[in-house]
Parts: sequence; structure tokens; C-alpha cells
Amino acid sequence: RHLRSVLSLEDFERRARRKLPLAIFGYVSGGVERNASLNANRAALDAISFTPRVLRDVSVRSQALNLLGHSYKLPFAIAPMGFSALAAYDGDVALARAATRMGSFAICSAASLTPLERVATEGQSGWFQCYIPGDQSRIAPLLERLLKAGFDTLVVTGDVPVAANRENNARNGFDAPFRVTPQLIWQGITHPRWTIGTLGREMWSRGMPHFANMEAVRGPPLFSRDLVRSTIARDRLGWPDIDYIRARWPGKLLVKGILHPDDAIRARNAGCDGVILSNHGGRQLDGAISGMQALPAVRAAVPDMAVIVDGGIRRGTDVLKALVMGADFTLVGRPFLYAAATDGVAGICHAMKLLAEEVDRDMALLGVNSIDQLRAERPVSG
Ligand code: FNR
Repeated sequence: RHLRSVLSLEDFERRARRKLPLAIFGYVSGGVERNASLNANRAALDAISFTPRVLRDVSVRSQALNLLGHSYKLPFAIAPMGFSALAAYDGDVALARAATRMGSFAICSAASLTPLERVATEGQSGWFQCYIPGDQSRIAPLLERLLKAGFDTLVVTGDVPVAANRENNARNGFDAPFRVTPQLIWQGITHPRWTIGTLGREMWSRGMPHFANMEAVRGPPLFSRDLVRSTIARDRLGWPDIDYIRARWPGKLLVKGILHPDDAIRARNAGCDGVILSNHGGRQLDGAISGMQALPAVRAAVPDMAVIVDGGIRRGTDVLKALVMGADFTLVGRPFLYAAATDGVAGICHAMKLLAEEVDRDMALLGVNSIDQLRAERPVSG
């Protein structure tokens, strides 16, 4: 009922801003340093415009797509987001469950606070993103754990060799390792709906939050300096590690955070099934181009590989712009976490439904019945 007033993904951001303490909202919404890449994500999408066709029969529209041997009802899925359970009660499970229900998928983040086994069984989504140390003896046990849990698609994120310079987190009182500051306590007191309904409920159900999936068995607690060490361990991660994983991972394998066409070619040569073009939502290297800017060159470099794009996608028109420019699929991050934070599974489903309705309406307005037709006709400029 109360979701009837939520008309777009942007509305969920406004709702989340009211409910979440600034430390948490700022962590989700924030970019890095001067927000150059965060802004580039929107600018690249806004720079494209459509030339629609009219008076065509568009009564048999479908936005269904095939990706890596699966057929999905929606052309977008939920990007991996760490710490989801701090923003939304049981966030990782909620995201996966809602996505599966809507005919799509959510990628469980390595930096999630929920054991991956629970996300696999209760979410049924099949996709896991890993942050792995550049240490092969620690990679193999994680792969075994993922397989046993039932994941079939692995995304290795390559754009976090070190933690980014997220000054906004430090200013708002969200820091890793997590520290309880007077600022944070005040935010907790002034946001009781989150403190009791999200954090309190989470701790009541599952105890002290910790990284449940960073290492093979149990990751470091949120409050420990091991957290920093586990990030530093990634600065040795390299393509030989991708080759190592490929030799041991029987499922689909993708690399996320690719922006250079030569890296996409390297991923293909390593036997990867796809790449995710992304500047991490403008949260890693400030000034990195957006996934959309990288798309034409990467598409040309690896014509037969699955290419997924994310960053700033908020509207049906954005999804269609990515697909028409050559992406096979799209990911959306922040809006779905806002929806999870304010309205749980029902909220995420509502957000996915809104975006799907926009895609469907926009296809009709463009004069196409299918994504294949859209790609063949390329009714875009920019
Ligand atoms: C992220 N992102 C991310 N990516 C990843 O590979 N592993 C992770 O753990 C995280 N964590 C994470 C947390 C939060 C709060 C955000 C907002 C983002 C990046 C994410 O997968 C995706 O690339 C961007 O969020 C896409 O941009 P939009 O849709 O949020 O603009």
C-alpha cells in the first residue's frame, strides 16, 4: 500500500535517506574523492538519445534475454554490494530472493555479512562475487566452499587492489575497521527505526556482524584490523590467479571492473565467460571512465563474449541505452539496496517491477518488440 507512492527508483533513494543514519546512507550513496567517476556514469548515459520509430505494431513486446545459457525475464540484475545487511535487515538474502522471484538474479558480494550458504539456499540466485587474496593456497578452499553451497557463476572483482579513498565514509563515521564513535551513537539514537528494526534485528538473529565470506571459512570481524590486511592482500592478485581459478572452477567465470579492451581480451584468453564493465559505481579510481564509455571499444574487441555493464542505471531508458550500445545485460546497484533498506523483499520487487515497466513502455515508444530488434536497428545517437 505505502509503496503506491513510490513511482521510480529515485523515490527509493529519498526514502532511504530519511530512514538510514548518515554513516550508512553515505556509505551506500557515496563515490570517491571528487566524484568524477560517479558523475561520469550518469553523464555517459545522458549523452545518448533515441530516434524512435512510430506507427509500428508493438503489441508483442518482450524484454526477456538469454545470458550465459540462462533465460531471464528481465534485462537487468542486482549488482554485488558489500555490507548489505547493515543497510537492510537480512539484506543479502532479501536481494537474492526478490531478484529470483522477479525472474532475474542478484550477485552476492564477498563483502557480505551473511554466510554464502544461506544466501545460496534462501536466495537461489546462483551468482557470487569474490574478493580473493593474491595467494593461491587461499583461493582453492573458497572455490570448494562456493561449489558446495551451490553457486554456479563466479564474478572476480578486479578493481579493488587496495581500498579506495572514501573520504565521505570517514567524515560520516563509517570506517573499516568499524569503530563506534560518539557521532555513530548519536546517529543511532536519532534513527531508531534503523537501529532497532535493522541493526538490532540483525544482531538479535545472527550476532555480531562479521565478514562471513572473505576467507574460506570465516572472515574477520568488522571491528578488526584483519579487515585492512585482507584488502592489502589483494594488491598481488593478477591474471595468473584468474588462470588458476579458471582451471579449478567448473561454472561460469566473469571478471568485474574491466574498462580497457585489452583487459577484456586477456579475460577471454584466460577462458572467462564474460566481463562486467564497471567503475565500481564511481567508488574506486576517481576519474576512471564509466562502463558505458568503455562499452563500444570492448564490444569490438570481444564480439563473442558476454559483456555486462553497470553504473548509474536508474531508468528503463538507461537499460535500453546500454543494450543498444552492445551490452548483453545490465546491473543496477544502489537503488535496489535502498529499496531493501526501506521496504525489504516487497520493496526490491516493487523497484524491479517499476524498472521492468519502464523498459516495456520505452520499447513500445521506441517502436520495437524485442531487444534483438532494438540492437539490429540501433535507433540512437551519441
Ligand atoms: C558496491 N559495489 C561492489 N562491487 C563489487 O564487486 N563488490 C562489492 O562488494 C561491492 N560493494 C558495493 C557496495 C555498495 C554499497 C555499492 C553502492 C557498490 C559496486 C557495485 O557492484 C556496482 O558496480 C555499482 O554499484 C553500480 O553502480 P550503481 O548502479 O550503484 O550506480
